[in-house]
Amino acid sequence: MADTKKIAVIGLGYVGLPLAVHLAKHFPVIGLDIDANRVDELKRGHDRTREIDRGPLCDTTMTFATDPAAIAGSDIFIVTVPTPVDKNNLPDLTAVKGASRMVGGVIGKGAIVVYESTVYPGVTEDIAGPEIEAASGLKCGVDFFLGYSPERINPGDREHTVDRITKVVAGQTPEVTQILGDMYGKLTSGGVFLARDIKTAEAAKVIENAQRDINIAFVNEVATIFQKMGLSVYDVLEAAGTKWNFLKFSPGLVGGHCIGVDPFYLAHAATTIGHHPEIILAGRRINDNMGGYVADCIALELAKRGKGAGARILMLGLTFKENVPDLRNSHVIDIVKGLTGRGFKVEVHDAFADPAEAKEFFDISLLPSIDDATGYDCVVGAVPHEPYLAFTPQKFTEILTDDGLVADVKGMWRNHALPGNLFRWQL
Ligand SMILES: NC(=O)c1ccc[n+]([C@@H]2O[C@H](COP(=O)([O-])OP(=O)(O)OC[C@H]3O[C@@H](n4cnc5c(N)ncnc54)[C@H](O)[C@@H]3O)[C@@H](O)[C@H]2O)c1
Repeated sequence: MADTKKIAVIGLGYVGLPLAVHLAKHFPVIGLDIDANRVDELKRGHDRTREIDRGPLCDTTMTFATDPAAIAGSDIFIVTVPTPVDKNNLPDLTAVKGASRMVGGVIGKGAIVVYESTVYPGVTEDIAGPEIEAASGLKCGVDFFLGYSPERINPGDREHTVDRITKVVAGQTPEVTQILGDMYGKLTSGGVFLARDIKTAEAAKVIENAQRDINIAFVNEVATIFQKMGLSVYDVLEAAGTKWNFLKFSPGLVGGHCIGVDPFYLAHAATTIGHHPEIILAGRRINDNMGGYVADCIALELAKRGKGAGARILMLGLTFKENVPDLRNSHVIDIVKGLTGRGFKVEVHDAFADPAEAKEFFDISLLPSIDDATGYDCVVGAVPHEPYLAFTPQKFTEILTDDGLVADVKGMWRNHALPGNLFRWQL
């Protein structure tokens, strides 16, 4: 475990790229990804995830590779590969295992392998470590060492960036924890928290996201109750939020790579030790059904105005959250399907999504522009991307027919005045 750390970051996505770029300000860093297109784009200074701007990407001292041989001899390997669920919502550790075997093929004695991918307690030591051992012939805890440091960044969040947030760090031995604490301490001004052990650090990450999922599920559940009572959940939350210890969450679709996925990792781990998780899975069910519920509400509102099959709907936003191009696990598609299934003609625009990905993921051909959009019976604000927040009353008049419906899923237009001939629906 040498003093000058040569670091390899494996997996250059939303998490790995910003991490590698910031680490490269302090250490020699090689970033490796199996996706040659991604590496080519990054070498040309283009980050399609929009996390790192062209300037810092062109200026970085890190190097990029697709060939595992390039990362041989690294002191620290940091694994930031995807951890999705399969079609049965069970953890899919294919990428973690693959990256571990790849590291095993090039690792030298004394190196540390740190996982940042979100997993359930036990994956690093009981699954990843043995994969490295098998590929390398080295002994874990003797010839090489493991660590875990969960990644906490949010896509599109320019405030809580990897160089500012508190990093939870754990190593297989106190010495490894210290080495990793020193390394991450250089990376972030937010300080490091040295967790008791690797499983504790893994557990901490997975409950951070499960807690968020459950809190949003609660707000989604009360939103559906208040809908029946003719109350807006946003009005209710605004009032309740004046209490000092009321937790502020908003209703909505829970998608993406993390919050809608990680609770299943915890649920799986619980099940394997004989505990059936109740609240964790209830939260998942409520949140996964929200898109269908929103489609039901919009269809009902349109029916009140005599509009059914054939009516034209403009859906604004397809990504899983605002101001990011990330379409993974976006539940806007549930609204689209719920409405097209009733015969509505739904057209979709997204200010940031890649049209080719929209086609590939959801078979949706995105509208290239909404500059001349007109003649719709309903506009659905599904994702509060900045350009949609800026809509004027005039824009709604242009888009909609007389007596058109403004369906505001995220409450982004709740304080916008609407022309008198238009109707509004919101959660
Ligand atoms: N996206 C987030 O904001 C976020 C936040 C916190 C934690 N996480 C966790 O971080 C991990 C990575 O997430 P992400 O959003 O960066 O994923 P991502 O899909 O954006 O990026 C992962 C990258 O890994 C590459 N990859 C896959 N298998 C590989 C392998 N065997 N070797 C090398 N590269 C490989 C892919 O090509 C891809 O470029 C996940 O466990 C996720 O749950 C993500």
